[in-house]
Amino acid sequence: MTKPVITLKNANITVPNGNKILDDMNLEILDGDFITVLGTNGAGKSTLFNAIAGNLSLSDGQVFHGDRDITNLSAVERTQMIGRVFQDPKMGTAPRMTVAENLLLSEKRGQRRTLRPRGLNNAKLMEYRRITAQMGNDLDNRLQTAAGDLSGGQRQALSFLMATRVKPELLLLDEHTAALDPKTSAQLMDATNQQVTENHLTALMITHNLSDAMHYGNRLIILNAGKIVLDVRDEAKNQLTEEELLKYFAI
Ligand SMILES: Nc1ncnc2c1ncn2[C@@H]1O[C@H](COP(=O)(O)OP(=O)(O)O)[C@@H](O)[C@H]1O
Ligand SMILES: [Mg+2]
Repeated sequence: MTKPVITLKNANITVPNGNKILDDMNLEILDGDFITVLGTNGAGKSTLFNAIAGNLSLSDGQVFHGDRDITNLSAVERTQMIGRVFQDPKMGTAPRMTVAENLLLSEKRGQRRTLRPRGLNNAKLMEYRRITAQMGNDLDNRLQTAAGDLSGGQRQALSFLMATRVKPELLLLDEHTAALDPKTSAQLMDATNQQVTENHLTALMITHNLSDAMHYGNRLIILNAGKIVLDVRDEAKNQLTEEELLKYFAI
């Protein structure tokens, strides 16, 4: 049996106005799962990520990391195991630092950070050239460029590399290609899939692109009003049609 990396048990988040933005959710994220996450705006997708990452605390229920109850562990204490990429290219990278400096900084995830990291030797630069080249968007020729001067696609590719530089036990991708033009978005999606697959990452990826959600990953979940309304994997996922998926959006 594959073990769960993260488990949500009857997880609830009720906000001050009384809304249940996470509604008694049960979810086992298994080691090696690549889960695509769908749902209308406001369905609770980012809330699910916040609950897992510890940015929002549960009103009721539990979060487990393996067998360990981490419900009361802070977001900072969870950064060691969780990598996250957001929709906004401005998040996740330090704009005044170069690409190489950002990558070096990301190697200290979960440790104390210095303001400007030291230790950028030739061996490191060669390694960064190799990993940035895999993103296929010329980022390898921008190692000395400030992150703030990159294109949106390059900056998201950098955010992705930073989130995975120290292999996270769980990678959370929150519409990380949504702010990019269609061609750049497709290109980053391809690179993402390659990295997740080759490095055997366990990942959740929120997307509004139905075809990406069906095409990538081994499992697909749909959220509605803080609940999981569909959870399919493998063969059942492969057999989904766009028409069927759309029904879940009409709830
Ligand atoms: N910290 C919060 N306080 C109050 N309401 C919140 C908070 N975070 C999210 N919400 C509400 O919860 C619902 C789900 O939000 P979210 O998870 O961001 O949706 P999405 O599926 O679009 O990512 C929305 O109605 C949103 O306004
Ligand atoms: Mg969201």
